[in-house]
Amino acid sequence: MSSMMWGGRFTDGPDEILRRFNDSLGYDIRLLPWDVVASMAHARMLAEVGILEDGERDELLAGLRGIFDGGAAGLPAAEDVHSAVETALYERAGRVAGKLHTGRSRNDQVATDLRLYLRARSLDLAAACLTLAGTLLRRARAHQDDPMPGYTHLQRAQVITIGHHLGAYVEMLLRDAGRHLEVHDSSLLCPLGSGALAGSSLPLDRRRVASLLGFDGITMNSLDAVSDRDGAATALFAATLSMIHLSRLAEEMTLWVSGEFAILALPDRFCTGSSLMPHKKNPDVPELIRGRAGRALGDLVTLLTVLKGLPLAYNKDLQEDKEALFDAQDVLGDALGILDRIWDAATFDRARARALAEGGNLSATALAELLVRRGLPFREAHHRVGAAVQLADAAGGTLETLSSSALEEALGVEGVPGTIRTAAGLAAGQVTSGSPGPGPMREALRDMGRRRSALARRVTSRRDRLPSRAPSPHPDVVGNPFQQIDSDEDSS
Ligand code: ARG
Repeated sequence: MSSMMWGGRFTDGPDEILRRFNDSLGYDIRLLPWDVVASMAHARMLAEVGILEDGERDELLAGLRGIFDGGAAGLPAAEDVHSAVETALYERAGRVAGKLHTGRSRNDQVATDLRLYLRARSLDLAAACLTLAGTLLRRARAHQDDPMPGYTHLQRAQVITIGHHLGAYVEMLLRDAGRHLEVHDSSLLCPLGSGALAGSSLPLDRRRVASLLGFDGITMNSLDAVSDRDGAATALFAATLSMIHLSRLAEEMTLWVSGEFAILALPDRFCTGSSLMPHKKNPDVPELIRGRAGRALGDLVTLLTVLKGLPLAYNKDLQEDKEALFDAQDVLGDALGILDRIWDAATFDRARARALAEGGNLSATALAELLVRRGLPFREAHHRVGAAVQLADAAGGTLETLSSSALEEALGVEGVPGTIRTAAGLAAGQVTSGSPGPGPMREALRDMGRRRSALARRVTSRRDRLPSRAPSPHPDVVGNPFQQIDSDEDSS
């Protein structure tokens, strides 16, 4: 059989190998709810401008609603989700189904579906970032006074706290949530009505369709509208950068659970064992997250490479956008979800973390700053403490093992407080905003909490503007997208 959508000029149907090579239904099926919603808006508009009778519109809307309710399982085999919906509509509504595609092309359809999908999915990902940020924030609060070593060059550098360290990842996640919200906000112009590439000779009301679908407005160049994948590229960048952040957290988790650090323990139910070595308990989840960050990065490069040098307007290369986009977003959604579960339950060994932060010359910088408070230029203070380190080292110890009198003599001052050489005293001594000291940390925790709430409010207000409250990427479990589109009440 020739293709239902475009078979008119063909004498022979598509070869099986062409079908397998060309068809995208296997993955663009997840656009189904958005394809149906956009088709409903289009049908309503066609009736309003007099291209459809009201009765015809109602038949189309009823058919489309049935297709939505039937979900993916109810769809016939087809080239892509758009042709599957049209074919299914023929099965339900008969000849009138042939009127739905009036003034429309799969090129502006897929561009519209993708923007709707991106709006919903980026809000989901923003919300998931905020969930993990909330869990880490809670853990950071609980550990705000627990010292641990802070590192540069993976060498112990200065004393920080566990809460301060976790707070760094809260900051990354809050920025990530903001970026996913920006992806949403940059997908608010509706391409539908741009046709295959040059719009239409029919009097379509593009603004009406845009408003029915909860867009802010319409795109203003039909060539760009059907070939623009900036939204997908931006979303892929946002997902990739989030995964890069999570891979850094994952790397630290694998370090921290190792016998060498041993400051973190993951629950058994989130770890795996070895088939050969009976004692092993391996942190596979963080390792997989570290690995999958590579996959997301590959997806980003895939899409940018597809777009590079592509002439206007639509080219079939653009069909390759979806698997990369979906994959990176799925990888991120999965990683955020499982990390949230793990961080809800992981436990720190506070005593061990503190022990790692004792000694090791970690008081050096604070001692130099003490000398500065006593009037020495910082560079001279630096040299004096450096010399004291050398002295201690020669005796097989550290700044913290020198007797007070030996230290004071080496530094040339008196009255060095004992707390300046303890982990707790060092962490507590930091006073600048953003540092691990108790005052600054309380301020930062409050500030992070406020920013998190503000971002959560932005997610909620944008969700309310979606034509569907479809929170899931899986078309068979979406909510009801029809309140607005197929009712007769004017909702614009
Ligand atoms: N499935 C295509 C895509 O995802 C949309 C169809 C455009 N096809 C066409 N022959 N113009 O990009």
